[in-house]
Amino acid sequence: MSALATLASFQQDHLLQFAAQLERDELAAFEQQLADIDFELLHRLTKDEEATVDWAALATRAEPPIAVRGAEVDKNRDRAIEVGEAAIRSGRVGMILVAGGQGTRLGFDQPKGLFPIGPLSDRTLFQMHCDRLLAVMQRYGVAIPLYVMTSPATDQETREYFSKNDRCGLDEDLLTIFCQGSMPAVDAESGKVLMASKSEIALSPDGHGGLVAALHKRGCLNDARARGIEHFYYVQVDNPMARICEPELIGFHILSESQMTTQVVKKRFAKEKVGNVVQIDGKTQIIEYSDLPDEIAEATDSQGELKFWAGNIAIHVFQREFLESVVDSADGLPFHRAHKAVAHLDASGLLVKPAGPNAIKFERFIFDLLPLADTAMVVEADAADVFAPVKNADGAAVDTPAHTKAAIVAQHRSWLQQAGVKIPPDVQVEIHPSWALDATEVRAKVQSELKIEADTYLR
Ligand code: UD1
Repeated sequence: MSALATLASFQQDHLLQFAAQLERDELAAFEQQLADIDFELLHRLTKDEEATVDWAALATRAEPPIAVRGAEVDKNRDRAIEVGEAAIRSGRVGMILVAGGQGTRLGFDQPKGLFPIGPLSDRTLFQMHCDRLLAVMQRYGVAIPLYVMTSPATDQETREYFSKNDRCGLDEDLLTIFCQGSMPAVDAESGKVLMASKSEIALSPDGHGGLVAALHKRGCLNDARARGIEHFYYVQVDNPMARICEPELIGFHILSESQMTTQVVKKRFAKEKVGNVVQIDGKTQIIEYSDLPDEIAEATDSQGELKFWAGNIAIHVFQREFLESVVDSADGLPFHRAHKAVAHLDASGLLVKPAGPNAIKFERFIFDLLPLADTAMVVEADAADVFAPVKNADGAAVDTPAHTKAAIVAQHRSWLQQAGVKIPPDVQVEIHPSWALDATEVRAKVQSELKIEADTYLR
């Protein structure tokens, strides 16, 4: 079938309307873009024939997740840390950082990873994550490879950033930047694919669920296997408080032989914009905040506590073999639809910049892998220790740079206070991970500094 006939059969032949005006090179590149699109899939998605998930119906069967919480975490912590540390030390843990999203809500027009967030240091999100990773490597005397996922929108700037900034201190051999795939945006009413220019489709990243395909296609799974990596520690670029390769979480994951482990925090309020980790028909699953009906989000238990308390903070540990085993089935992960404003050409070839949502973007979510895991584990952490994401511009009610910086300062002040240091209330503190990674290291550092001072005094 000719390209035109194929497009016509899916009512997408408008895509060729400017083709005659294109230069040879442009036309070739445009044809390649068209060839990369699965029009049949798109047709099913837009015509709602795709087996779409009825989240509201699913949510009625949801129960709170089976999770390791509070006292149980405390009871098993030492053993978990021991096992996690052994895995890190022996080079069996790699790191994945997803950084393909655009900071639209944040009002930042560069890749989010370049956003300065260090409360005093102004270090970028990328630098904060890399500094912590370097400190973990230093602590355990091991090299840990970092796989950074970008999207077509963030790839080039991210590469330039890392190359201009000495790869944030990482050895060349330890940093792999790889790009996720894209999906066309379609007009919300007609289902027609939108054009960004006469020679380009309006594409958007295929969601962080595109990770599995991208890891496979870009050779990262093979690379990790060759290095002896058995587990990946996964974090999102927008949360600078995420621990990096935390032994405790890795230990719980290994001890339970979990294929996919998720760290959760207690939700602050019913409609908090975090995914809800739940149990449905015996499987752990995440229902995104936007998909959970209000009455279910607000349900309480006999103690008056939120029934669905477990908030997804997008920190996971994956068995490498699990990701390898789902490379094919990840193709079947459901697509989620998002209504967004997408600039596009109108029928006369003029660029239209809509004020409100006009288009549907399709995204896959990494956490939809959870029900595919034979064994999944959920471990609770304290939000003040691990979660302060940068989502919105300053001025918003939650998750702004100001909130994130305040949370980092509060954590670092409390580490020093736990070590017996007295700090006036208005003093801002930021601790670089190369000095101390956590409260325990801060205590050790403070004690050794005090000892040095005392020795000097006694001499
Ligand atoms: C996300 C989670 C939500 C969780 C919250 C915690 C989803 C769908 N929801 O919400 O359950 O409670 O984080 O902070 O993820 N990204 C890519 N490629 C993409 C899309 C996103 O790499 O195609 C990356 C972004 O760079 C970002 C992260 O994924 O680091 C989160 O994406 P975002 O769309 O901001 O998700 P949230 O709505 O904040």
